[in-house]
Amino acid sequence: MYRRPIFAANWKMNKGPSDTESFVKSFLSKLTGRQTSDIVIAAPFIALPTLSEALRDARGVEMAAQNCSQFDDGAYTGEISVKMLREILVRHVIIGHSERRSIFGETNAVINAKMKKAREAGLKLIFCIGETLEERNAGQLESILRSQITEGLDGITPSDMEDTVVAYEPVWAIGTGVTATAEQAQEAHAFVRSVISDLYGPEVAGKLRIQYGGSVKPNNAAELMACPDIDGALIGGASLDAQSFVDIISNGSPAN
Ligand code: PGA
Repeated sequence: MYRRPIFAANWKMNKGPSDTESFVKSFLSKLTGRQTSDIVIAAPFIALPTLSEALRDARGVEMAAQNCSQFDDGAYTGEISVKMLREILVRHVIIGHSERRSIFGETNAVINAKMKKAREAGLKLIFCIGETLEERNAGQLESILRSQITEGLDGITPSDMEDTVVAYEPVWAIGTGVTATAEQAQEAHAFVRSVISDLYGPEVAGKLRIQYGGSVKPNNAAELMACPDIDGALIGGASLDAQSFVDIISNGSPAN
């Protein structure tokens, strides 16, 4: 089954409005030709209006938020609702990133509440999962991924899955310069797809795009993307530089 790859930049807590503006100028000038992959940029909340304006004439590059609240509105100091994101034309939201899980204490239940809230607002999901090194070394890779998937997707319907991308990001590979080997990544992706098939059937699983994330760079993108179950990447550090993000997209995308 053909799946169009999707490359998403996850800027994390980098780039305010002015850096965002200069990045987009440079990025769009380097991104030439017809794109064979989808492209998403996840900027900090405060930079999203600038990003929206800067991308206005750039067909095919969409915006994502890096998080959202599981609540509608009210007394939740510091939070941003899905309705607010929709108001500024955000299309995608990253949910369940390992930094949200480990630093901000988000459990599978919280992540699931956010996933459902985001879908109610029609946002597309980039749902992150992944094991720590300790879990992998203890032989828990599959059980951790299975519970993250099953609990995170509880109540998410087959039609929601059409607007969902799963990002497999082994925590030990994020920001460390250590990438999973193509074999390790492929094995985990195939497992993720099999769990999705158990939950939703083979058709939904066959259509689902599964991104790899964790130290993706211009020089390893092609090898990772050549794996049959890897359908794009979620890129942190290497997406902060316009040339390097463009190189990852072009090295990892199918030929025109
Ligand atoms: P990295 O981050 O590319 O810097 O490893 C990936 C991510 O956390 O999404």
